[in-house]
Amino acid sequence: MSNPFDPIKAVENDKERCWHHITQHKPFEQNDPPVFVEGKGMRITDAKGKEYLDAVSGGVWTVNVGYGRESMADAVRDQLVKLCYFANTAGNVPAAQFADQLIDKMPGFSRVYYSNSGSEANEKAYKIIRQLAHFNNNGKKHKIIYRDRDYHGTTIAALSSTGQSERKAQYGPFLSGFAELEHCCCYRCPFGKEYGNCDIECARALETLILKEGPDTVGGIILEPITAGGGVIPPAPEYFPIIREICDKYDVLLHIDEVVCGIGRTGKWFGYQNYDFTPDMVTMAKGVASGYAAISCTVTTEKIFEQFKADPSDRERYFRDISTFGGCTAGPAAALENMRIVEEENLLENVTTMGAYMQDRLFELKDKYDIIGDVRGVGLFQGMELVKDRTTKEPVDETVTMKIAGHCMQNGVIIGRTNRSFEKYNNNLCFSPALISTKADIDEIVTAVDNALAAL
Ligand SMILES: Cc1ncc(COP(=O)(O)O)c(C=O)c1O
Repeated sequence: MSNPFDPIKAVENDKERCWHHITQHKPFEQNDPPVFVEGKGMRITDAKGKEYLDAVSGGVWTVNVGYGRESMADAVRDQLVKLCYFANTAGNVPAAQFADQLIDKMPGFSRVYYSNSGSEANEKAYKIIRQLAHFNNNGKKHKIIYRDRDYHGTTIAALSSTGQSERKAQYGPFLSGFAELEHCCCYRCPFGKEYGNCDIECARALETLILKEGPDTVGGIILEPITAGGGVIPPAPEYFPIIREICDKYDVLLHIDEVVCGIGRTGKWFGYQNYDFTPDMVTMAKGVASGYAAISCTVTTEKIFEQFKADPSDRERYFRDISTFGGCTAGPAAALENMRIVEEENLLENVTTMGAYMQDRLFELKDKYDIIGDVRGVGLFQGMELVKDRTTKEPVDETVTMKIAGHCMQNGVIIGRTNRSFEKYNNNLCFSPALISTKADIDEIVTAVDNALAAL
């Protein structure tokens, strides 16, 4: 069925009626906001008919299998006709099937709890940690550690556990029970060390923080496997095994936020699988159904799940959480088809090959332009940090990254940038094209950035 609306009229409606996410609307008194109309593969078209190559998978690392997949739409449609909804207090077929297939990809895990967004999936994990604290020591072991520069979502608890000062500004007061760990960006080591000549202080600092907070008060830690919106920061290979060891020593649950990296972004099913450790909880959202339906998951071990089992006469000892749309039913139907596509089209392999190619091409730009201080990333998840001076590493002003992204957009390529996350480091460009990217797509992205840098 075709949409009866005129796309140009939609721009007017948008201008008059819609309030966009993290967007200042004042400029729209003079200019039109971008309104997208359709997408196919890696490309999207706006209401004025201009086509763009999308190097950020729907703006925020989401459309992993690309736009316009009829089989995704069919899977959702067929499921909605069969059974659109029943609360996840009961099961449904796609939710059960997807949970089973997901657990196959996650050795050591056994249970999937469904919700609707990354923020919500993280909140569920926090509630699990807090409730376990109530089971085991009157709620004392309830504190959750998070890391500087990581983002965990938009709700107040998720923001309370987010290490991005500018993103949080004016939304306080925040919740108690959260404590911040130093970030792990080698390029700007918070301990003034250099990788190769350090003792991975950024990981060992966790023990210092747990001891400061009191080991009997710390129940969990949430970490992105690779910091995303905080500037694409893959930790050193030794980082997570050290974190795991400290968590085991102090009986702290290790929660990995795979909202961005989950389902293939780094060339593995999950970002944590690039490192030698197993977490206790994993959350995921965005790429799980590539934006064709809303779904998020909080995945736990059987050991955690078992602690919530008790005699039904116990009025409190079960997970007393509900989320109206969680797990019903379009989300898991889309997630099943999404996973089939990733497997049948060998997209993990493609991400590894194309990610390495993209990183090589970005390093070529680094050789050409002194403004590029660092290139880092894994798979089709790459970032570039811009500096005024390579020796002092003084970050460029955000107007520079805005100009580069604007130039690329004008030339038909959408790239990402750290968007007012923290005062000083809005100096990163981000690239996360769909997992179906070809060499030609990557060349087009790199050429657009090259031209934008040359035009500065
Ligand atoms: C690492 C990470 N966690 C959680 C979230 C929150 O997800 P959502 O916007 O779906 O609530 C995001 C969103 O960008 C994210 O990048």
